[in-house]
Amino acid sequence: MEKIIVRKSEPLKGHVKIDGAKNSALPIIAASLLGTEDIILEDVPNLADVKVILQVLNELGAETEYLDENTVRINSANLNSYQTPYALMSKMRASFLVMGPLLARLGRTETHMPGGCAIGSRPIDLHLKGFMALGALIVENTSVIGAKAEKGLIGDIIYLDFPSVGATQNIMMAATHAKGETIIENAAKEPEIVDLANFLNKMGADVKGAGTSSIRIKGVNKLRGCTHQIIPDRIEAATFMVAAAITKGDVTIDNIITSHIRPVIAKLKEIGCTITEFENEDKVRVVGPDRPRGTRIKTLPYPGFPTDVQAQFMALMTICEGISKVEETVFENRFMHVAELQKMGALIVTEGKEARIAGVPKLKGANVKATDLRAGAALVLAGLIADGVTSVGDIYHIDRGYNNIVGKLRGLGANIDRITD
Ligand code: EPZ
Repeated sequence: MEKIIVRKSEPLKGHVKIDGAKNSALPIIAASLLGTEDIILEDVPNLADVKVILQVLNELGAETEYLDENTVRINSANLNSYQTPYALMSKMRASFLVMGPLLARLGRTETHMPGGCAIGSRPIDLHLKGFMALGALIVENTSVIGAKAEKGLIGDIIYLDFPSVGATQNIMMAATHAKGETIIENAAKEPEIVDLANFLNKMGADVKGAGTSSIRIKGVNKLRGCTHQIIPDRIEAATFMVAAAITKGDVTIDNIITSHIRPVIAKLKEIGCTITEFENEDKVRVVGPDRPRGTRIKTLPYPGFPTDVQAQFMALMTICEGISKVEETVFENRFMHVAELQKMGALIVTEGKEARIAGVPKLKGANVKATDLRAGAALVLAGLIADGVTSVGDIYHIDRGYNNIVGKLRGLGANIDRITD
């Protein structure tokens, strides 16, 4: 079994280049099922989750090939199945995103309860509600979830009880071929929603309002091929910004869009970091403070503080002066990293969706396990400042969302290795 071994490191220094966004690449790869001509995707991150969804497309009859490490060609002209294989669905929840495109393209889709991290029940009621609103019949039994619309989909107004990222994306993709106009109200506003809409419009779709709470999609008959560059990964960027802060380092993060990560910049300033932004917003420099101050974060849908940075920021809070607070409002069970941080000497108390953290002078190395991809990253960051050695297990979680995190951190001076136990 592979592990990441982290030893107390010097303050991180230097430059790190961020990859394309996992949470943009996954829905855009799924959306490639809507086209019948070649689609070229650039800046596709080299991640386990990306390989899984490309396998799903292959199983459905689409052609996929890597033109180089980060460029993928997809052609779905020979799409010949609407059934997503269980084995792949159980590996990754985002595989559920193929349902909207299959419904639009074939009028039928059948999949299984989506898998994913253990950060909560992750229901899919909002996705199904959207498909039903477009006229699909939902077929559901203990393990299989299906939807069919033999006469095609018909546009409608859909109100999302919660601005779900996945539901917004799935409904948007299904609506590209629906007759007439679809409006999604209380839609998610994440940058990855905007990237997907830009991609669909390049294919000839008619999507307006992405990035706001109200998205309008006018159905079209055919979608063509295109070339698209995936936006930078704001969550990977935030992870390295926190790495600079926690080690009192001086790191410049290259290839980001600063406006996508404003809440994290604001909070890092509150704890005492010096943040330098640059004119064309494509990099940011973070200098960590000698004595970081405690603060409070509340995770919210975009543009609020991202839930995907909550664990990493909590690792930083364990050594901030005073009492810090975290309120996790997006997922009902995203505190599993707390027990692992406590093994390293962190003083954290949780009650429901709130955690209170009392800053300690130092952490101590321990044997810990990644419980989801962001928690895994948080434990690596904690290991950078803990006395002694920290061994992080179950790092397959980390590989789902980070390409070569060990190499990137080592490039900044971290004392870190990946070993096979
Ligand atoms: C996306 O997941 C991301 N994954 C997650 O990133 C991210 O944490 C999440 O959005 C929130 O920003 C991808 O983009 C592949 P949601 P998604 O639907 O779409 C509830 C990472 O670390 N909900 O916005 O699954 C749900 O239970 C991952 O990269 C319903 O109740 O998130 C959750 O509590 C983790 N019914 C909340 O909404 C539904 O039908 C947010 O879920 C759908 C969701």
